[in-house]
Amino acid sequence: MLELNNLEVAYHSAAPVLRGLSLRVPLGAVVALIGPNGAGKTTVLRAITGLLKLQRGRATKGEVLFNGQALLGKHGEDIVRAGIAQVLEGRRIFMNLSVEENLRAGGYRSTGPEVSADLDRFYTRFPALGAHRKQPAARLSGAEQQMLTIARALMARPKLLLLDEPSLGHSPKVIALLEELIRELNGEGLSILLAEQNAAMALDLSHHAYVMEHGKVVLDGSTAILRADRTIQACYLGVGQREAPHSLRDARLYPRKKRWLS
Ligand SMILES: Nc1ncnc2c1ncn2[C@@H]1O[C@H](COP(=O)(O)OP(=O)(O)OP(=O)(O)O)[C@@H](O)[C@H]1O
Ligand SMILES: [Mg+2]
Repeated sequence: MLELNNLEVAYHSAAPVLRGLSLRVPLGAVVALIGPNGAGKTTVLRAITGLLKLQRGRATKGEVLFNGQALLGKHGEDIVRAGIAQVLEGRRIFMNLSVEENLRAGGYRSTGPEVSADLDRFYTRFPALGAHRKQPAARLSGAEQQMLTIARALMARPKLLLLDEPSLGHSPKVIALLEELIRELNGEGLSILLAEQNAAMALDLSHHAYVMEHGKVVLDGSTAILRADRTIQACYLGVGQREAPHSLRDARLYPRKKRWLS
């Protein structure tokens, strides 16, 4: 469904931060993109949706294909129409708008009956959103705001959902709810590309995973195989070590952020 071939991306006039990256998201799959801070995960998602341009970034090589259609150079409406929705890092909702106004903004291309059906669906699935539908989004808890961010993206009825670090800053309980939601959405047929530093979560959820370091894929494979891999366990899952090493290539012990070990 989604295919990135030999993608090279640079910001401003600096050296490329993606250096010949290739990955695939097959129809109906959950694919994880894991890697440490600065590996380039967000940049990959920006390259797919054309948000690079806002950051003065550009693809200097390679291609992005979605159902065979070239996406590089496209953004905004073109991406939504193609069937891709992105949940950005952090909770990017309109804090002063009501919950319902936020959701309606996500469904701006849908017909009236589609919007009503989707609102009903999300208020049932997320009762807290229903209960606060007329309240400013700022009044929601962090977890509820995260759910609103995802629900708003789903209002566009995408075929492919790009999620950037949905677990960031959430408790294990909320992360479990997010996992349940992602599984449920995938069960309904949505394809998902999940960029996460929380490798444990990403490997739990995905069918296939790509491990990125310094703008390149250093390892990829079916999740079952990666989870059984000793180096992945040591570097990314904190198994058998008190502190995870810095990278796959550089397996010296480095203190990592706590959430790597969760
Ligand atoms: N707008 C920008 N302008 C210049 N350089 C940028 C910009 N955004 C990211 N970079 C650089 O590109 C590299 C990849 O960053 P990116 O945000 O894609 O990594 P990431 O894997 O998403 O990291 P994190 O886990 O911290 O979110 C980093 O070196 C970063 O400093
Ligand atoms: Mg990022």
